[in-house]
Amino acid sequence: MAIISPSILSADFCRLGDECRLALDAGAEMLHFDVMDGHFVPNISFGVPVLASLHKGVPSGFFDVHLMISRPLSYVDAFAKAGAGLINFHLESEDDPAAVLAAIRAAGCKTGMTIKPGTPAGALYPWLEQLDLVLVMSVEPGFGGQKFLPSALDKLAALKAERQARGLDFLLEVDGGVNAETAPLCTAAGADVLVAGSAIFAAADPAAAVGALAAV
Ligand code: DX5
Ligand code: ZN
Repeated sequence: MAIISPSILSADFCRLGDECRLALDAGAEMLHFDVMDGHFVPNISFGVPVLASLHKGVPSGFFDVHLMISRPLSYVDAFAKAGAGLINFHLESEDDPAAVLAAIRAAGCKTGMTIKPGTPAGALYPWLEQLDLVLVMSVEPGFGGQKFLPSALDKLAALKAERQARGLDFLLEVDGGVNAETAPLCTAAGADVLVAGSAIFAAADPAAAVGALAAV
C-alpha cells in the first residue's frame, strides 16, 4: 500500500475544504500543498492564508507543504504557524539548505527536501540524515497535468538503496504525472508516498482514484 498525498493544486478552489475532506475520507494520509512564487517556477498558486483556512476547516489533515519558491527560509515560520505538518523545499532554491532545515525543525515540522528533474539524486546525499522525507520531482515543477518523466525512477531506486545502506528511515515521495499507469513503476522503484493532482481531482470519481492509487 502506498501513502497518497493528493495535490490540491488540481482541486476545485471554490470547494477546497470539501475536496480535502473527500480525499482524506477516501484514505489519503496527507494533503500536498503546492506553493509557487512566480520566480522559482513560472506560476503562482496559493500561500499562507489559504493553508491557515484549510488547517482550521480540515483539522485532521496532515499538510505536506511543497515550497516551489526561491527564498524558503523567510517563510518557514509562517507556514508552520499556518498548519504545515511537513515543509518540503528545493535543494535548488537560493537559501542555505542547513539553515532552512534548522528553521523547519525549530518550527516543529517534519523536514523534506526536493530535487527537480535536472538535479542528480546524489546532490541529496549530504542531507539524508536530516530528512524525514525526500521528494523526487517527476515533472518540471510549476504546473499540474504534465507527463511523467521516467528519469525519476532511477533516482528513487538510488535513494532507496542509499537509505538502506545507511540505515535511515526517511520517506521517499514522487510528484508529477503520477497516475494509474505510472504509480506502479514508482512504487516498484521505491516510492513510499505518491503525490497525484490531476489523476485524483480531474477523475470522474476522485475517491475511487485515491483508493486505486493507494492499492498500487
Ligand atoms: C507540480 C506540482 C505537483 C502537481 C502535480 O509543480 O509540484 O504537485 O500538482 O500534478 P499532477 O499530479 O497533475 O502531475
Ligand atoms: Zn508538488
